[in-house]
Amino acid sequence: MAMNTVFVRLLQLLLLLLPPSLRDYLWAAPSDHGVGQKLQVYHPIIMSAGISCPVLEARLTDAYTPSLPRCGAFKGKGWFPLWNSKQDLVDHDYVSCFEEQMSLVFDPVTNDYRNQPGVETRVPDFGSAYGFSYKDDSCPFCCNIKLRNELEALGYRDGDTLFGVPYDIRHAPPRPGQPSEVYSDYFARVKDLVQNASAKNGNKPVIFIGHSFGGKLILDFVNSTPLSWRKQFIKHLVLLSPTPPTGFLEALKNLASGPSCIHFDAAPHLALRTMWWSFASSLLSLPSPTVFTHEPLIITKHRNYSAYDYPDFLVALGFSMKGMLPFTKWVFPTNMSVEAPMVPTTYLSGFGVQTINQVVFWDGNFDVYPENVYGNGDGVVNWNSVLVFANELKRQHCLKNILFKFIKIPNVTHGEIAIQDNSLKIIMAEILEANS
Ligand SMILES: *[C@@H]1O[C@H](CO)[C@@H](O)[C@H](O)[C@H]1NC(C)=O
Ligand SMILES: *[C@@H]1O[C@H](CO)[C@@H](O)[C@H](O)[C@H]1NC(C)=O
Ligand SMILES: *[C@@H]1O[C@H](CO)[C@@H](O)[C@H](O)[C@H]1NC(C)=O
Ligand SMILES: *[C@@H]1O[C@H](CO)[C@@H](O)[C@H](O)[C@H]1NC(C)=O
Repeated sequence: MAMNTVFVRLLQLLLLLLPPSLRDYLWAAPSDHGVGQKLQVYHPIIMSAGISCPVLEARLTDAYTPSLPRCGAFKGKGWFPLWNSKQDLVDHDYVSCFEEQMSLVFDPVTNDYRNQPGVETRVPDFGSAYGFSYKDDSCPFCCNIKLRNELEALGYRDGDTLFGVPYDIRHAPPRPGQPSEVYSDYFARVKDLVQNASAKNGNKPVIFIGHSFGGKLILDFVNSTPLSWRKQFIKHLVLLSPTPPTGFLEALKNLASGPSCIHFDAAPHLALRTMWWSFASSLLSLPSPTVFTHEPLIITKHRNYSAYDYPDFLVALGFSMKGMLPFTKWVFPTNMSVEAPMVPTTYLSGFGVQTINQVVFWDGNFDVYPENVYGNGDGVVNWNSVLVFANELKRQHCLKNILFKFIKIPNVTHGEIAIQDNSLKIIMAEILEANS
């Protein structure tokens, strides 16, 4: 017993030598403290995760005409999970039905995307940090699950102090002046949730934590709100490898080879390409001319394509004119602008990992596996793009004297930043610092 006390005293002394945020984190060891009283000091946290993480449910009405009889199996039978488990889709021979029912249609009259006729969709568990899950068992800690466990160990509780904002992965926040019914609705609900979470916690402003596409959406959400609202309700943004508006090569490669984030080992490699083309989100994050200039990004024997050549590249890929329309109307990235959130922000990103820089389809056939040329990045996002984006956010924050902290973590990948022990510790320390 006495030895134990001495040990604890020694530990306390050692802890004093650590930076305050890390010290608090290590100090808040499990069950050392009454959860109730510890909670008083915490700001509510709202989480979001990458594009493979939200779930989508569907309901098929009479207006639905299945292209294959088996795709009509759930017609008139209420809500079912359309995107929740890869194994279920494969076991029930439903992958091609999934492709059909997930696909969006661009409506030139409303200038907006909608579901296929007779398909209704919804994202379950809005408001919950449990609204994110990986779709197979290959990555049990993906989708911020390990991070969520850490927060719960500190005393955070879903629905009280911890929340989540799952989204419809197929849609994309519109550019200013463009309509998006889905995003008008989503951003209104996020705003409502922030206000509710704050009201529930003594009017304390919230901390947002977003990974990858989820981080991008948090930024876009914050930028859609009035400055005075942000100041009142947002304590801090913690962005974990957000997908930058300056783009990255993998987004371009996914147009040619299908989505790497929605992938079935059991299906042919191009099985989901047409579905992917129909998503508004597939056209976000293409490498922007600002960062990638006239560099050849797609290389073939007869012609190279740079960030200035997307219309030609899409025609070469076989995008129909119908498919081209939303691209030209929506997201041509030549005039991209970066808008900083103007609330205290910590941006964390890995670097030093082999990341696709260029792809070679030498024979000009885009249906084959390309050869990749690699450069620096986090394994998904190119480092030059991260730097241009982060520096621009920093510049805008500095002008107004608002905290912007950019933390570069060597050798940690895009997917592992909130999983790998070393980077997870850094993230937790930042969250605790934001809480103080
Ligand atoms: C916020 O609280 C109001 C009133 O209790 C409730 O009607 C609404 O559904 C809540 N919204 C969210 C997004 O939690
Ligand atoms: C395409 O780019 C590569 C690499 O920069 C270059 O070697 C090649 O000459 C270019 N090809 C054409 C057709 O411009
Ligand atoms: C690009 O944006 C700038 C600043 O917002 C604007 O002045 C310019 O006209 C835009 N150019 C095009 C081609 O839209
Ligand atoms: C990162 O990985 C490279 C290559 O494996 C290695 O040489 C380097 O020492 C690593 N850096 C750190 C800080 O771990």
